[in-house]
Amino acid sequence: MVPRMALAMTVTTDPAPPRPVTFDWDELNRLVRWVHQFAAAARGLIVVGGDKGGVGKTTVAYELAGALGAVLVDLDWTGGSATYKWGLDFERVNLARSAAGLHLMPGHAVRPYRGPSRPDLVPGHPVLENLERDDSACRAIAAGLRELARTRLVVADTHPGMNNLTRAAVRESDVVASPVPLRSGEMRALTKMLKDGLASGGPLVIVPNMIRTPLSKRKLDRLTAILEPYPNVVRDLGNPISASTVWEDRDGTSAVTLQRRAGIDTLRARLEMLRAIVDICRPLTVAA
Ligand SMILES: Nc1ncnc2c1ncn2[C@@H]1O[C@H](COP(=O)(O)OP(=O)(O)OP(=O)(O)O)[C@@H](O)[C@H]1O
Ligand SMILES: [Mg+2]
Repeated sequence: MVPRMALAMTVTTDPAPPRPVTFDWDELNRLVRWVHQFAAAARGLIVVGGDKGGVGKTTVAYELAGALGAVLVDLDWTGGSATYKWGLDFERVNLARSAAGLHLMPGHAVRPYRGPSRPDLVPGHPVLENLERDDSACRAIAAGLRELARTRLVVADTHPGMNNLTRAAVRESDVVASPVPLRSGEMRALTKMLKDGLASGGPLVIVPNMIRTPLSKRKLDRLTAILEPYPNVVRDLGNPISASTVWEDRDGTSAVTLQRRAGIDTLRARLEMLRAIVDICRPLTVAA
């Protein structure tokens, strides 16, 4: 019998067995090339929307804009928005350079904020909460997005749930992406969002997010039934993004698709996200 102490020694001094590293570099390189080629030619407006807080709208919008070299327009007016993720406080946002500026100064050249390993940003602003109640202001902001999307790719992140501003942006969109965790609460919320107009703009791509186990047939059937009445929904789901994905660098501002020193976990997250990005962009390719 091996004495207890000796056993403990064996465990602590032996090098850890190598963890199998299976990573598809070819696929990653292929996706990076696809995204660059697509982004060089494409123009248009991608709106990221969905009901419920915390389903991944900002994460998906941030990564989409980062990977595509698109401008990210933050249509949210709350603290958890893309503006804060980017590292900018509402206190420091220049109103004229924010999304509200698209309404307050129609036709002025938008000057996005720029930063390393982040998408170019037209930040949100607290006044959007008031503007959201004004239909003509919402239409003016959406027209500003449309105008911007004539010259470059634009990704709009939105406030949770449907509201006048999101509805106006969706109406002008070329593609709408909606991250949905596919739990029962979120499925109910999706039903409500669809009734409220989520599918009334460009083709809608559902991106299953924070997925812990393989999608069950029961869930997929339920989703199919929910989407059935809406012709503008892309029937193939976007690539599911798993719940264990690591998104953030040390200060949380770099997009995982842009981080320079990427370890294996970041690369896995990048691969998952790029697969989802390709699925979201596909309808736009057809339209372009
Ligand atoms: N696939 C994922 N795996 C792990 N964490 C995730 C995943 N997607 C998003 N998250 C995390 O979940 C949190 C909420 O995500 P995010 O802010 O993108 O949601 P949101 O829909 O924009 O929320 P809100 O409605 O409040 O604006 C963040 O901390 C984000 O890092
Ligand atoms: Mg958000």
